[in-house]
Amino acid sequence: MKKSLKDYDVIIVGAGAAGMMCGWEAGKRGKRALIIEHTHKIGEKIRISGGGRSNFTNLYSTPANFLSQNPHFCKSALSRYTPHDFIALVDAHNISWHEKPYVELAGNENARGQLFCDNSAVQIIDMLKNGCESAGATFSLGTKITDIRHQDGRYILETSGDMYVCDSLVVASGGLSIPKIGASNFGYELAKKFGHNIIPPRPALVPLTFDEKLLERTKPLSGLAVDAIVSCRTGRFREGLLFTHRGLSGPSVLQISSYWREGDEISVDLLPEGDVFAFLKDAKNLHPKQQLRSVLSEAMPARLAALVEDLSECHLKVAELSGKNIRNVADIVKNMKILPSGTEGYRTAEVTLGGVDTTQVSSKTFESSSVKGLYFVGEVLDVTGHLGGHNFQWAWSSGWCAGQFA
Ligand code: FDA
Repeated sequence: MKKSLKDYDVIIVGAGAAGMMCGWEAGKRGKRALIIEHTHKIGEKIRISGGGRSNFTNLYSTPANFLSQNPHFCKSALSRYTPHDFIALVDAHNISWHEKPYVELAGNENARGQLFCDNSAVQIIDMLKNGCESAGATFSLGTKITDIRHQDGRYILETSGDMYVCDSLVVASGGLSIPKIGASNFGYELAKKFGHNIIPPRPALVPLTFDEKLLERTKPLSGLAVDAIVSCRTGRFREGLLFTHRGLSGPSVLQISSYWREGDEISVDLLPEGDVFAFLKDAKNLHPKQQLRSVLSEAMPARLAALVEDLSECHLKVAELSGKNIRNVADIVKNMKILPSGTEGYRTAEVTLGGVDTTQVSSKTFESSSVKGLYFVGEVLDVTGHLGGHNFQWAWSSGWCAGQFA
């Protein structure tokens, strides 16, 4: 059967957060917009985000919450379409939301301002879908793009369905995380084809893994969660840390995974509020006959206290601890050095670090500086947010901005 040729002003690749925001905005400007999605569902990552309630933005999202080789790039879009703009949109669609309860502790400012739907992330997907459709933007689901050519100032797309032609092509195909719900390297390959540089992608906001030897030691702690400060390179986060049967997870570890590189040690303060040195010195007088691990277990879970005793090799009563021993134990608790062997990879990573180099993209329009009519938005770009709603805010901000120009 002969394929028909369909003509659009704007074609957006990817019906995720950034693509739908862009399609909605382009449609509002009267552009004939089509969103092509290769899976049969739209907004799958929105649906599974935030445990089904989507942490859809963060009240305090600023450029400091983003990692990029070009840290200034995100500033313009984040200031033109802010978290308050998205909240206003959500409010206008009667989607009720709440801020995740936050207890102020020294060093945990990053955990503030996380907004979630009261009911379901599907409400956000419905809002975007209805917004697109009311603005005249349409969807083509389950459509595989097999070739894209730029010819006489227009883009020609060969697909598993029809053939398409358009003036503006917006790449909103996201990063590589969670391939089983549709992630692909489409955006990177297309960018390369059109002469763009790619900052090497790597999994981020992802659990860290241990080698067999380290796992053997930490196995008894699997399932244990504690408040901790985790540091690596320039990153430092205070939030929950979870021991798993593969290594470490929990918000503080997911955050630090965006800073960690192969061969790096991470440093963990397992008792952020505690002065372990003073505590053990006092214990020498108060409980001289108690074993180190049982004294420590007054301040931390017993399983963790046992690990600290093992690592310190001080299988002693506290009365027997020398000053050097106490300093060593305090150092293990406050500054435990851990060498992860890797990450759980794209199978569980929430985002992808790296991506399309932003130095070749306009921070105002999101158009390529070398290829007219080619736009990149959302996670496919080398802009990666911290955990806590920042990545969706980037999708909304970048999608909205491109939607004003594409
Ligand atoms: P997104 O990945 O959303 O969309 C890309 C779309 O393009 C997908 O629909 C994909 O199928 C499609 N596509 C890919 N290749 C294609 C091709 N060749 N042809 C056509 N279509 C193609 N962030 C946050 O701020 N708060 C949160 O609570 C969470 N929670 C969360 C949980 C989990 C489990 C994950 C994996 C991720 C999060 N995130 C998050 C991150 C957030 O989901 C992510 O940053 C945004 O969805 C990125 O939006 P994009 O639109 O750029 O890509």
